[in-house]
Amino acid sequence: MGDTANKNVLQLRDVKKIFSHGTIDEVTALNGINLTVQEQDFISIIGSNGAGKSTMLNVIAGVFPPERGGKVIIDGDDVTNLPEYRHSAYTGRVWQEPQVGTASKMTIEENLAMAYLRGKKRGLKAASNKELRALFREALKQLGLGLEDRLNAPVGTLSGGQRQSLSLVMATISKPAILLLDEHIATLDPKTAQTVLKLSKMIIDKEKMTTMMVTHNMEIALRFGNRLVMMHRGKVIVDIGEERKNTLTINDLVNAFEQASGEKFDDDSVLLSHR
Ligand SMILES: Nc1ncnc2c1ncn2[C@@H]1O[C@H](COP(=O)(O)OP(=O)(O)O)[C@@H](O)[C@H]1O
Ligand SMILES: [Mg+2]
Repeated sequence: MGDTANKNVLQLRDVKKIFSHGTIDEVTALNGINLTVQEQDFISIIGSNGAGKSTMLNVIAGVFPPERGGKVIIDGDDVTNLPEYRHSAYTGRVWQEPQVGTASKMTIEENLAMAYLRGKKRGLKAASNKELRALFREALKQLGLGLEDRLNAPVGTLSGGQRQSLSLVMATISKPAILLLDEHIATLDPKTAQTVLKLSKMIIDKEKMTTMMVTHNMEIALRFGNRLVMMHRGKVIVDIGEERKNTLTINDLVNAFEQASGEKFDDDSVLLSHR
């Protein structure tokens, strides 16, 4: 035990989120989430469209707080009501749309500097521009995309795959406690998606990142991570650990869904893709 004891990086306690409270449009997006994420967990998250996956990541990233009574604890700190900018020291994030995480008109270097400063924890020694550039170059070089030689290129000139890869570096450069990936390969063509997925895995392993990755693809969810969480109607309905996950098939997942939800698995309404 000692240093190798499992450490809780994230705890969600009775996290609820209701949109448009008290109106005809009221939606319960999260309906009492309890989840404990341990250091170096890599959780694949799947679930029907509208299940609350993005809302859960938004609460973790501090985009909005949960309803009163819910708690978000990261690295032992209660961050439930911290403003979003203060969450950046705890969370790094890559969104579905390549445009969202990066600023088109700014250069690769400026984007990285912004991400680095945003996530910088108090007390971290200030690095010189030269040191920072070396850090950025090294981080980009491992992608194998040649971006380290294009530090002055505006990010708008990059392809979708290059941009998502840059987003991955930006999300991890200041070593946040948790990496949040929200369908970050969904808009890429299949080949590029596989490349970005491979790069994600490489960075996660190298930086020993604790990771939550939302995907709509059950096969990817089975292939990646040590844990699989399924959400439905604002709840975690299935949470499978490494040992069982390793033997799981897509069929098992469908059965697990039907058993836990009491609903028929239906590709049209559930929108979990086999492809
Ligand atoms: N900002 C918002 N305002 C109003 N309703 C929202 C907002 N964000 C999400 N919702 C609603 O909350 C539910 C869960 O959405 P979301 O978390 O995006 O689902 P998922 O990512 O699993 O597809 C959906 O019914 C969605 O329409
Ligand atoms: Mg979503």
